[in-house]
Amino acid sequence: MRQRRFSVIDEFLSSFDNSLKTLTKGANQAAREIAAERTDSQLDAKQSKHIAGLMRINHTGEVCAQALYQGQALTAKLETTREAMQQAANEEIDHLVWCEQRIKELGGHTSHLNPLFYGLSFSIGALAGAISDKVSLGFVAATEDQVCKHLQDHLEQIPESDKKTREILEKMLIDEQAHAHIAMQAGGLAFPGPIKASMTLLSKAMTATTYRI
Ligand SMILES: [Fe+2]
Ligand SMILES: [Fe+2]
Repeated sequence: MRQRRFSVIDEFLSSFDNSLKTLTKGANQAAREIAAERTDSQLDAKQSKHIAGLMRINHTGEVCAQALYQGQALTAKLETTREAMQQAANEEIDHLVWCEQRIKELGGHTSHLNPLFYGLSFSIGALAGAISDKVSLGFVAATEDQVCKHLQDHLEQIPESDKKTREILEKMLIDEQAHAHIAMQAGGLAFPGPIKASMTLLSKAMTATTYRI
């Protein structure tokens, strides 16, 4: 009982630590580097502002991913997939750092709404994990699918000359597709169309607000 209580406190502190690190600028370090050189000089002010806005959306998506995985880790059992999910969560830290750095280079700022989205995603992740691992993994897969759609859409909008942003988004796309695949392979529930449609609506609300704020 005593040990159990300590482990609950440990998990709470670890979650709290992660939330602070996610929401504090420069608090994380990427394990992988982006090789492409900056070619910002070829972008005009309007392009830079637009790309910074798109990267702000992607950064908030990564804040949500951190929260989702933390919420999931707190409540889901994940007996056979905890390691794979942890690996995915670690890759999300790279994405978070890459997006944050790129926004800074483009002269933009991360979204002021991040604490709100972190709280929301953490709650959804914890709730899905409390229902079952199947629902939790299914939710991860459905979310990653949404993220992939955003990334593909954003890649179409980034000029070829902006090699650095393109490399970040291309690397993220490969990782997110793998995360969705792992979650489904681990037994994730295939969400029905109406649930996916409501997730699309929610993500539209997220992108419309964070592009600006
Ligand atoms: Fe990610
Ligand atoms: Fe992911």
